[in-house]
Amino acid sequence: MHPLEQLRDDALREIEAARDEKSLEGVRVKYLGKSGSISEWGERMKTLGKEERPVVGKLLNQARNAVTAALDQRGEKLRAEKESDALASMDISLPGTPHDTGSLHPLHQMHELAEGPDIETEWYCFDALNTPPDHPARNEQDTFYLPDGRLLRTHTSTVQIRAMESAPPPIRVIASGAAYRRDELDATHSPQFHQIEGLYVDENVSVADLKGELEFFMRELFGADSEVQFRPHFFPFTEPSLEVYVRSKALKGGEQWIEVAGCGMVHPAVFEAVNKARGDNAYDPEKWSGYAFGLGMDRLAMILFEIPDIRLFGQNDLRFLRQFA
Ligand code: DAH
Repeated sequence: MHPLEQLRDDALREIEAARDEKSLEGVRVKYLGKSGSISEWGERMKTLGKEERPVVGKLLNQARNAVTAALDQRGEKLRAEKESDALASMDISLPGTPHDTGSLHPLHQMHELAEGPDIETEWYCFDALNTPPDHPARNEQDTFYLPDGRLLRTHTSTVQIRAMESAPPPIRVIASGAAYRRDELDATHSPQFHQIEGLYVDENVSVADLKGELEFFMRELFGADSEVQFRPHFFPFTEPSLEVYVRSKALKGGEQWIEVAGCGMVHPAVFEAVNKARGDNAYDPEKWSGYAFGLGMDRLAMILFEIPDIRLFGQNDLRFLRQFA
């Protein structure tokens, strides 16, 4: 047997005997590495005579190919074994690695349905809502203006106009989202807060419908034994206008009346503004009437979740948020 054949057989035996990838690599280096015993025959070729050279060259190639193939095969097998060992030793009954799933922000839990843009024109925020430029209500709702004259909406009542512009009566709309005012930030005021807006326009809608709906809503929210009170107020876009107060044993103290919403019957001037924008008389104030309301979401969430400070909503502190998960 030629020594190359002997080396080849030794290598194949050692490859078969290798129990892990590291010892397999040892075998490769020993025989096929730069100064491995099979590789050395490549150098030795140069010293051989013309007759012998092609014979040894052939043997060398065969040895190299056989050993390389065996190394590949054994390597593959060892890797597969290692993987199935890892799987076999895995206890699938163990609990998984827990990871944080996050949860809905308390304001988000109160937030549903239609939306309008936060950045609005003065027309949607004021003019169309019967609040012309010289109206004192504009001072009470001072906000942040963009260089192009647009503003951050001071209430979600803007969505009333957008809804009526895009669909004829009868309509029912609930919209919610952020509103902005130039208020100093303290425990009960924030330059950004959130509202829920409601609008219902149909034939023969009356204050009785408005009161019925809001009383129902408040009792669903604060409990069946809640008391609801409507007090006269002023809003430019409703006539008459009312404020909604709630008192409930479920709420702190149970003695105090808490103001939770503004509401009223849609002012005919609002319908007229919408008609002008639409270019028709779809919201004919002689034919249609409606009620609207606006609720402060932050306030409601603070009462319901017993949150003492409005600033907590905006701080994204997980210790706060996890209490409502
Ligand atoms: N937009 C009013 C505010 O932010 C709240 C309000 C009052 C909304 C009366 C209404 C309404 O829809 O009819 O103070």
